[in-house]
Amino acid sequence: MNQDIERILITEEEIDGIVTKMAGEISRDYEGKNLLLLGILKGSVVFMGELMKRVSIPVQIDFMKVSSYGSGTKSSGVIDILLDIRRKDIDKCDILIVEDIIDSGKTLSYLVKYLKQKGAKSVKTCTMLDKPSRREVDFHSDYVGCEIPDLFVVGYGLDYNENYRALPYVGVLKEEIYR
Ligand code: IMP
Ligand code: MG
Repeated sequence: MNQDIERILITEEEIDGIVTKMAGEISRDYEGKNLLLLGILKGSVVFMGELMKRVSIPVQIDFMKVSSYGSGTKSSGVIDILLDIRRKDIDKCDILIVEDIIDSGKTLSYLVKYLKQKGAKSVKTCTMLDKPSRREVDFHSDYVGCEIPDLFVVGYGLDYNENYRALPYVGVLKEEIYR
């Protein structure tokens, strides 16, 4: 285990089961639709890659990059679009936003409104992790891999100051690292 990790919260094997189950539900729900998985960079990349492999219906992918965190562990609440989606056929797309984790809920509630305004045929959300106790706006994700308590976690795409994204598990970061 990485020396900066206090403990593993979700193991590789557990994640594997969660992602396979979510992909099954999505494949069933989006049968006959124009599924576009829209990953939010960079945190969603690992989840996105694993999820898309397991989706059994035709799927396209795209990415957006937003910044909601200045740096470190606190949300600034201001959502900046750093990389936008540019598609002429957005009115034909059933967009499923793919996120790593929901905290305050501000990023996803903003993005759902933004993409509907842009004319997407439908917009739903899918997150690997959810910290419901941290919510600052009323927001519920359509697909949730795992609800977790109010802990700062890294790995499986999630970072602290750009580090630890490549860890294959979700781990709790030692407090001394971000204090
Ligand atoms: P929200 O807008 O507050 O819901 O912010 C969600 C974003 O905050 C996620 O996409 C992550 O980038 C980041 N985030 C929230 N909690 C954590 C965490 O525990 N570890 C790493 N990143 C986190
Ligand atoms: Mg993120």
